[in-house]
Amino acid sequence: MREAGKVVARVFETVEPLIKPGISTYEINEIAEKVIYDAGGTCPCKGYYGYPAGTCVSVNETLIHGIPSKKIKLKEGDIVSLDVVANLKGYCADATRTFIVGTCKESVRRLVNVCRESFFEGIKQAKAGNRVGDISAAIQHYVESSGYSVARDFTGHGIGKSMHEDPSVPNYGVPGTGAMLQVGMAIAVEPMILEGKKDTRILGDGWTVKSKDGKLTCHYENTIVITEDGYEIITLTEGEKNINV
Ligand code: MF3
Ligand code: CO
Repeated sequence: MREAGKVVARVFETVEPLIKPGISTYEINEIAEKVIYDAGGTCPCKGYYGYPAGTCVSVNETLIHGIPSKKIKLKEGDIVSLDVVANLKGYCADATRTFIVGTCKESVRRLVNVCRESFFEGIKQAKAGNRVGDISAAIQHYVESSGYSVARDFTGHGIGKSMHEDPSVPNYGVPGTGAMLQVGMAIAVEPMILEGKKDTRILGDGWTVKSKDGKLTCHYENTIVITEDGYEIITLTEGEKNINV
């Protein structure tokens, strides 16, 4: 799983410098898939319940599951989240980054920062003996006390030989409830947050999830493993390891 995590991180390192006005979400996905295939991996999302691409590329009010499209081109000030799952030698890793296209409004930057920070608040609770609800509640508290909402209809998840395994890891919940974390468990923790109300809608394509109110959304995700002394994040880029957020 660590090897798969490194491939996912390499996707972000490769794509980040190319996130500029004019690039399409189709092109972003093509580059991402190439990194995974060149590493000898596969893309579990492709064909998953008929999903047509290797990654999800979601712009602005699209929260998750944006289908890559030649028609969707990034503009200055947009935010775009790239959700990447790689399977390497039978094991999966899953992560998401939201990138800012050029420069954006301060309010947009704050949304992106709060989303990432909420992940790190959540995983402060990631230790053997704690429960999933401890992570969930910490994320919810951080996001809501920052003035944003968390999505209810989509959650993080266990991960391993399959990209989705038990337990589910919601971004809302009650401390002390849910599955107990144990050494060796791997989970994808993924705050999906909204600038406005928590409600979402799914487009007629059956996949694209947008905010109901049309306001901005954000997503951040890493795969973590519960260890003897806490947790290890296996999908950080080299740059992120150095700054540690
Ligand atoms: N990476 C997503 C997750 O975090 C899954 C993508 S859904 C798919 O669970 F259909 F595109 F595969
Ligand atoms: Co996930």
